[in-house]
Amino acid sequence: MAEIDILITGGHGQVGQALAHASWPEGVRLHRPTRAELDLTSEVALSEAFARTPFAAVINACAFTAVDAAEAQAGDAFLANALIPARLADATRRAGLPLVHISTDCVFDGRRDRPYAEYDATAPISVYGSSKRAGELAVLSANPRSAVVRTAWVVSARGKNFIRTIVDGAVSRPELTVVADVIGSPTSADDLAEALATLTLAMIADPEAPTGVYHCVNAGEASWAELAVEALRLAGSRTTVVPIPAADRPAPAPRPVNSRLSCERLANDYGVTMRDWREAVVDLVDGLPSEKAAP
Ligand SMILES: NC(=O)c1ccc[n+]([C@@H]2O[C@H](COP(=O)([O-])OP(=O)(O)OC[C@H]3O[C@@H](n4cnc5c(N)ncnc54)[C@H](OP(=O)(O)O)[C@@H]3O)[C@@H](O)[C@H]2O)c1
Repeated sequence: MAEIDILITGGHGQVGQALAHASWPEGVRLHRPTRAELDLTSEVALSEAFARTPFAAVINACAFTAVDAAEAQAGDAFLANALIPARLADATRRAGLPLVHISTDCVFDGRRDRPYAEYDATAPISVYGSSKRAGELAVLSANPRSAVVRTAWVVSARGKNFIRTIVDGAVSRPELTVVADVIGSPTSADDLAEALATLTLAMIADPEAPTGVYHCVNAGEASWAELAVEALRLAGSRTTVVPIPAADRPAPAPRPVNSRLSCERLANDYGVTMRDWREAVVDLVDGLPSEKAAP
């Protein structure tokens, strides 16, 4: 394969790191500038970066992801989750490049009793969800070669996430209380990264490739408590999970009680199917630092 340069913004976050570890074909060069190296809010900085390197595509994994903090920091959330995607969409449209933008289940209110499809109406219930929806709209309206990829409940052996918190917490505690009445689609950052790589390469190869909103989560569904039980079982921990209702753990930002996403468009348009979350969690727990696998 000829050499291909891909810009990954937010490339040192949880998903950004997974993208760096994904199985890209030989010849693909990933560029993951830090905040200090590239100011994503600056049109000038973006134009200069695009002039320096002939990127073939941009994957936007940059976001303000502190869902609770966003309630009091709406300006920061909208800057990262709406303004930066808008800037990237403008810059990529001017350069004629595909933009793959990552979004979230939090654009939904969670009231449906089935997994959310790509065409379901959005209705965010938090500042984070509203800022991410604004980013989706900015991307879709500015760059006709864009894909908005919504994911959910991302877990990884790297970075800060639910499984790391549970397995680390079990080292010192005989029981952990975990919310049992919120259900979603647990998703391995590594599996998501492989899907994003496939989608991005297909969009680079074919200027007429399908665009729009996609959902990408591991198959199956779980409550947070079920996910915790499975992670602790695989980690060989004797810590028990005490299920509690979400109402017993109030948080500044409301979350959708049903975060399940269906991924039919990704399968139909790009042939990407995701394995069951339980299989993904086996690999993930295997990859945890060994001292964290509590006895
Ligand atoms: N994690 C989940 O469970 C989850 C669920 C659904 C959807 N998503 C979506 O998945 C995507 C990736 O999430 P993630 O879990 O990888 O998030 P993350 O670990 O918090 O990483 C976010 C990245 O964005 C960068 N960033 C934030 N604000 C920035 C700014 N103003 N300028 C430049 N860089 C900035 C961060 O840089 P610093 O390291 O410098 O802060 C970091 O590299 C996001 O779009 C998120 O909304 C995540």
